[in-house]
Amino acid sequence: MPYRTIIEPFRIKSVEPIRFTTREEREQALAAAHHNLFNLHANDVMIDLLTDSGTGAMSAEQWAALMRGDESYAGSPSFERFESVVRDLTGYRHVIPTHQGRAAERILFAETTKAGQIVPNNNHFDTTRANVEYQGAEARDLVCAEAADLHLEAPFKGNVDVDALEHLLAGEGAGRVPLVMVTITNNAGGGQPVSLANLRDVRDVCNRFGVPLFLDAARFAENAWFIVQRELGQQHRTPREVAEEVFRLADGCTISLKKDGLGNIGGLLAMNDDDLAQRCRNLLILTEGFPTYGGLAGRDLDALAQGLTEVTEPNYLHYRARSAEYLAEKAWAAGVDTVRPAGAHAVYLDAGALLPHIPPSQFPAQALACELYLEGGVRGVEIGSLMFGDAPHELVRLALPRRVYTQSHVDYVGEVIAAVASRAASLRGYLIVEEPPWLRHFTAKLLPIP
Ligand code: F0G
Repeated sequence: MPYRTIIEPFRIKSVEPIRFTTREEREQALAAAHHNLFNLHANDVMIDLLTDSGTGAMSAEQWAALMRGDESYAGSPSFERFESVVRDLTGYRHVIPTHQGRAAERILFAETTKAGQIVPNNNHFDTTRANVEYQGAEARDLVCAEAADLHLEAPFKGNVDVDALEHLLAGEGAGRVPLVMVTITNNAGGGQPVSLANLRDVRDVCNRFGVPLFLDAARFAENAWFIVQRELGQQHRTPREVAEEVFRLADGCTISLKKDGLGNIGGLLAMNDDDLAQRCRNLLILTEGFPTYGGLAGRDLDALAQGLTEVTEPNYLHYRARSAEYLAEKAWAAGVDTVRPAGAHAVYLDAGALLPHIPPSQFPAQALACELYLEGGVRGVEIGSLMFGDAPHELVRLALPRRVYTQSHVDYVGEVIAAVASRAASLRGYLIVEEPPWLRHFTAKLLPIP
C-alpha cells in the first residue's frame, strides 16, 4: 500500500466507556490500593496495560461462534471443531483443552517430570517455572547471550543457547532432562522471538539425545510474524505457514489461549505421544473436566477455534507488531529506553536506566509504574526487584491487549511517559510494609519513601 499509516484492521461495533479520573482521584485510589497496582479497581484505570492475557476483544465471528457453542457434557461438536482447528494448525494427534495455560503446564509436568530432574527453556514464564519447581525439579533458563544486553538490537533475542543445551544434555543433565521447552515469544525475556533456524537446531539436539521438545506457544502467531519479517529466506511465506512448521518441529505444546487464541479464557495441551496423552487426560478429569471440554464451556471452545484461525492474518499481525513498536518509539523520543527491539505484545520500559537515583532495594520500576498511573491512569506491571527479589533488570511492562486500544490511546500513553520522564529525578522509591511468603508482587503493601 502506498500509505504510511498502518490502520487498525478492524472497525468497532461495540464499545466500553473509559472512566476519566483526575490526578487527585488516582492518588486516593493508589493509596487505598497500598501502592500496589494489582489492588486497583479496574474502573479507576484509564488505559489498562497490565497484561495482554485474556484482555483482548473478540471479533464478530467469535461472538457468533459463542452462540454456536454446544454445551453437551461429552462429545460436544464444539470440541470437535476446536480439535480440528488445533490439529490443522499444529499437526499434533492429541488435543486436550484446559481452562488456561498454567493448567496445561501443571498436567504436563505432573506426568513427565520428577524431583531431581532439570527442565531447560529459553526463559520459563513464572507459572511454568512454578509448575516445574512444584515437581521438585529445576527450571533452567538457557536463553542466548544477546538477551542479557537489553538495548542490543538483534532479531531473535529469544533464541535458545544451543551449545549450552547440548552441554547440559551431554553432561550434568544426562538422563535427568524429561523434556526441553521453548517459549515463543519469550515473554520473560522482553517478548523476543525465536528463529526457525534456532528451533531446528534445538530439534536436532533433542533428537540426538532422545529428549522430547515442547513449545510454550502462548504467542506463536506473533513469533511467526517476526520470523517472516526478520529471518533470511522466510519473506515469501505466510505467518500461518511458518506457525505450522514451527509446531511440527516439536513433539507437543502448551498454549495459553488468552493470548494468540484471541480468547478471554482458555488453554490447551497437545502432543503426539499416545501414552503420555492418555495419562494427561486421566489427570485432566481430576481437576479440569471431561477430555472434550477441559475447564471450558462449549461456547469458549468455539470462540477459540475461530480466534485461532484469525490470529495469523498478516494485516492483523502487522498492525499488532507495529503498535508495540510505535509505543516504543514514543518512549525513546521521551528519553526512556526499553528492551530492544520492541516485542509484539508489550514494551518493557527500562526503569533502572531512567531512575538511577533509586536503588533496586527501593523498587525503581514500581516507582515508575505508580507514577504512570498517577500521571495518566495508565497501568503497567513491575518486572523487577519487587516481583523477583533479586532481579537482573528493573522493568515496567506495558502490555497491549489485542484489538482493544487505537492509535490515539497509544499516543496518549506516549505523552504520559514523556511527562513522567521529564521529572524523573523527582521520583521517589518505595518500601514494602507487608508481604506474603511467595509471589509477593501480587499482594504486597507498599509506601512511598518520603
Ligand atoms: N506461558 C507464557 C509465555 C505466558 O506469558 C503465560 C501467561 C502463561 C504461560 C500462563 O498462561 O495465564 O493462561 O495460565 N502470561 C500472562 C502475562 C499472565 O501477563 O504475561 P495462563
